[in-house]
Amino acid sequence: MTNPYQAIYERSINDPDGFWGDAAADIDWTKTWDRVLDDSNKPFYRWFSGAECNTCYNALDRHADGGRGDQAALIFDSAVTSSVSTYTYKELRDEVARLAGVLATNGVGKGDRVIVYMPMVAEALMAMLACARLGAVHSVVFGGFASNELAVRIDDAKPAAIISASCGIEGARVIEYKPLLDDAIEIATHKPPRCIILQRPQATASLIEGRDVDWHDAMASAEPVDCVPVKATDPLYILYTSGTTGEPKGVIRDNGGHMVALKWSMKNIYDVDPGDVYWAASDVGWVVGHSYIVYAPLLHGCTTVMYEGKPVGTPDAGAFWRVISQHNVKVLFTAPTAFRAIKREDPEGKLIKDYDISCLKYLFLAGERTDPDTLTWAEEKLQVPVVDHWWQTETGWSIATNCMGLHPVPFKAGSPSMAAPGWDVRILDDNCNEVADGDIGAICVKLPMAPSSLPSLWNADERFKQAYLEEFPGYYKTSDAGYKDEDGYLFIMARTDDIINVAGHRLSTGGMEEVLAAHKDVAECAVVGVADQLKGQLPVGFLVLNAGAVIANEDVVREVIQMVRDKIGPVAAFKTAVVVERLPKTRSGKILRGTMQKIADGETYKAPATIDDPVILDEIDEALQSIGYSSARS
Ligand code: COA
Ligand code: AMP
Repeated sequence: MTNPYQAIYERSINDPDGFWGDAAADIDWTKTWDRVLDDSNKPFYRWFSGAECNTCYNALDRHADGGRGDQAALIFDSAVTSSVSTYTYKELRDEVARLAGVLATNGVGKGDRVIVYMPMVAEALMAMLACARLGAVHSVVFGGFASNELAVRIDDAKPAAIISASCGIEGARVIEYKPLLDDAIEIATHKPPRCIILQRPQATASLIEGRDVDWHDAMASAEPVDCVPVKATDPLYILYTSGTTGEPKGVIRDNGGHMVALKWSMKNIYDVDPGDVYWAASDVGWVVGHSYIVYAPLLHGCTTVMYEGKPVGTPDAGAFWRVISQHNVKVLFTAPTAFRAIKREDPEGKLIKDYDISCLKYLFLAGERTDPDTLTWAEEKLQVPVVDHWWQTETGWSIATNCMGLHPVPFKAGSPSMAAPGWDVRILDDNCNEVADGDIGAICVKLPMAPSSLPSLWNADERFKQAYLEEFPGYYKTSDAGYKDEDGYLFIMARTDDIINVAGHRLSTGGMEEVLAAHKDVAECAVVGVADQLKGQLPVGFLVLNAGAVIANEDVVREVIQMVRDKIGPVAAFKTAVVVERLPKTRSGKILRGTMQKIADGETYKAPATIDDPVILDEIDEALQSIGYSSARS
């Protein structure tokens, strides 16, 4: 297959300096680079070393002062409070400059970390940009995580300040954030000297004197501060993501490479121009929110939409169509799970007809595999191209996509199309050899990775090497398995580790097992992700109780469910567990989670040759049937 795309892609791989050097002309630098790709300290690669810049300047000031001052930069649409606020580039820059002033007077400076624990409000985006303005490093923690998870991140990032809010609003429920924050600080060893708290009208947080500062009071007297130049290679943010254990990985994002890749992606992947309205229906707590609610649309001079609400129930399954038509959205980016939720409530798509959504040109999906039903439904109902693209927190933008603004290639259902420029994607076997087209293997990226990819993990260079680079020397291991077809299209099939994807949220079953194992009556446990029609996957726990435990099965199940909610958070959606006599294992003692998952999914399964006792699989099957899972046997 020949397509002009191929030549562009090949240049990005063979001449990264030329390709990304050209793309970098779209960014304003205060000092130009010594090297585009700096490979002097392999396997750690750096982009635009020697250069200086400021991400907030490129996202706000250069538009505010350069002809887009009166254009909307941000539309904050809160379906849960029935309100819409619009900020022009000038207004947003001025708010952010004053908030940076608040941070500076509260002791935050270049290189300091700031944790942002906020719901989906405009102030969360302002908080991130205010940190960028000062050269401080933000670390946003998703609101659905519990105090314990927040505490782990506080101890790792050691923030000089935390920015939070009195509450979030989940559908019709007001969730108080401040008690969760106070608990987290209580648990953490590191005690942040300052917390800046946004009081929302739905709940008033009590402030701790000497530590907590009221956002509105502080802003009223704040002086704006200017952008502080930082090195292109300095960290812009840390975003914690699930690893194989309960200990999250602090993915670092730099300033220079991140800006170049994200700015490039807006026209070339999403086909939007400055002035267009772009909506990523995600949460600022996730990488999609960082890249495509906050940074990329603003770097490109677009209007970004920030939505506080759900695809359904706020108030109905027409919410997305209302937002698209009301704000003239050209591109919608969300997770397939959101479309599954809409389709479930309004299978005929009747509510779409209530709105004029002719402004919509593309739907982009990511975060999990797009199932064929959802893909077909979205294509039929919206009558726009539906673009599946594949990426990870670690990469910050898509590794594989159809570049709609460059040279689109024909779509193939089930594939996120081809490797994006800068990503040399290979499918490897266990011996690090490339497999034949069509054969499944470990999806890896030949080093160096494209700009914006993680340069390392926060304070954990060794863990970075060990987690991503050691198994396949010379490559980054994505931990996804899949194949490439004869035309170069990628197919992403499954994770190779114990990460599961629940409603587009990345979670570690290992982390959940650590919580279950801490229950005093639990001797052994396993958590597997089973298929779910709405959320893609849901965790299910298997518990083996201590000999002589007197607790009733339903009590231990109820208690471990509560423990996961308290320790990890409601986002884990851990609502199902079952007590079993034994867990199926290999003779060497490895728990057969994959086989258990197949049983739960009603797939046919074969007892592995290495199994210790095949009868246990029947017991697992029966236990699953007792909680409503169908069996391939029945
Ligand atoms: N703060 C506090 N709690 C939160 C939260 C937040 N920011 N986000 C989620 N939660 C809670 C929810 O209230 C829910 O709690 P519950 O168990 O008490 O009901 C739990 O965490 C699970 O949330 P979620 O997975 O979002 O499930 P849901 O049933 O509320 O909604 C969807 C399901 C599919 C509608 C929703 O997940 C969705 O819109 N997802 C797609 C978009 C997306 O965000 N993708 C992320 C990556 S692109
Ligand atoms: P996260 O880091 O939360 O973005 O999750 C990344 C993981 O989500 C990837 O490693 C994949 O397992 C999965 N994922 C993301 N996008 C896709 C996609 N388009 N198709 C299949 N899986 C995806």
